[in-house]
Amino acid sequence: MPYLNIAIDGPAGAGKSTIAKAIARELGILYLDTGAMYRALALGALRAGIDPNDVARVLPLLETTDIFARCIDGVQHTYLNGEDVSDLIRTPEISKGASDISVFPAVRIKLADTQRKVAQGNDVVMDGREIGTYVIPQTPNKFYVTASVEERARRRLAELRARGQYQDVTLEAMQSEITARDHTDSTREFAPLMQAPDAILIDTTDMDIPTAVQAVLAQLKR
Ligand code: DC
Repeated sequence: MPYLNIAIDGPAGAGKSTIAKAIARELGILYLDTGAMYRALALGALRAGIDPNDVARVLPLLETTDIFARCIDGVQHTYLNGEDVSDLIRTPEISKGASDISVFPAVRIKLADTQRKVAQGNDVVMDGREIGTYVIPQTPNKFYVTASVEERARRRLAELRARGQYQDVTLEAMQSEITARDHTDSTREFAPLMQAPDAILIDTTDMDIPTAVQAVLAQLKR
């Protein structure tokens, strides 16, 4: 493979994006947050008054929606029909909408195609759910980053609260939300969240981010 493609998959809140960004910075390569693309599509649906679960209405929307990501000064910006929606897609409503909308094969085929084009022309680290199993399965650099549900809920809650959201939500409620999202993501029929057989498992429950980043860097195949 001419370009270095690194796939980092795992459930919500495991530390994937923090690890992926650090690796991209360390190696001086692109970082692509693929979840942001599903989030942008969910935002497009909600704005059009479409339930992200309503396949009959999501599919026509897909035809007329343009989603792409661009890196500016090391920060990813995600665009919905040309509008930078990077900040608007970080809400609990969009998290759920993105998980729901990603169930439809046509949605994944379209977004995965855009993601593959990035991988074919760049050294890139991508994080998502099925990057190693479906988007770029040919890469020898596959990692599956996970952590216990309790730890992931704790981290997500801290992150959202730091942004002024979720002030009244309990840890238990956050755990239920994460468990529900894990379920939707890993039980969908087409390209579910799953560890690729040849992916290296990184459990961050008791591991800090620098250690996880070193673990990935130490095992890269060039
Ligand atoms: O990583 P995230 O929380 O931003 O992702 C939001 C949702 O998008 C996630 O619950 C499932 C979906 N998703 C996906 O199906 N495949 C990806 N590669 C990335 C995200």
